[in-house]
Amino acid sequence: MHTPEGKQPYVVPRELADDEQPAIVAGFWRLLEALEAVQNESPLVGLRISSLNSSNAILDNDPIGLSSWLAERLNGTELDNLHVMRGDFLGQQHGDVLTPIRTGFRGVLVGNMGYSAEEANGAIATGQLNAVAFGNAFLANPDLPERFRRGAPLQDPDPATYYTTGPAGYTDSPFLEPA
Ligand SMILES: Cc1cc2nc3c(=O)[nH]c(=O)nc-3n(C[C@H](O)[C@H](O)[C@H](O)COP(=O)(O)O)c2cc1C
Repeated sequence: MHTPEGKQPYVVPRELADDEQPAIVAGFWRLLEALEAVQNESPLVGLRISSLNSSNAILDNDPIGLSSWLAERLNGTELDNLHVMRGDFLGQQHGDVLTPIRTGFRGVLVGNMGYSAEEANGAIATGQLNAVAFGNAFLANPDLPERFRRGAPLQDPDPATYYTTGPAGYTDSPFLEPA
């Protein structure tokens, strides 16, 4: 969820999370309020959680426990899907958040971060996930599903273009030749 300013609301700021269950519960209520407001505008709402991700200086003292706690409580919120970023952009926090979330959450679970087509298919086949989302790979491969279908090589995204304006790195990557 993004605020109108484009900033992300953090459910549990680290300074409040240290063994302070009330702060976690308060954060959860804030999340539910925001969810309800969005659901009032659209019946199809997915929620993304990135509990391992330490970007923007977010570090939780128990990201796995928090994920597990949250997953169970999100049952009954009529989410279209719960989307989980499985890792940390900055590589500071490690662990398996997907397993406890899969155990606790009964709805549609989408995972992402660094999946290959093969790994994604495996995660779906075993039931760990219902779907996998692709970000970086789509930036450089506008025809990503077709490349997966054909087993064609993927083009590498250029991180120097991230968060820049203009088409470079976003819409200027070539498509495959028609088969
Ligand atoms: C240019 C760029 C901008 C991103 N912006 C956001 C964002 O605003 N909010 C967010 O939660 N994740 C953001 N992400 C993270 C992606 O949603 C995704 O979790 C991450 O790239 C890992 O998945 P991937 O390996 O499929 O790309 C961004 C990623 C990139 C490359």
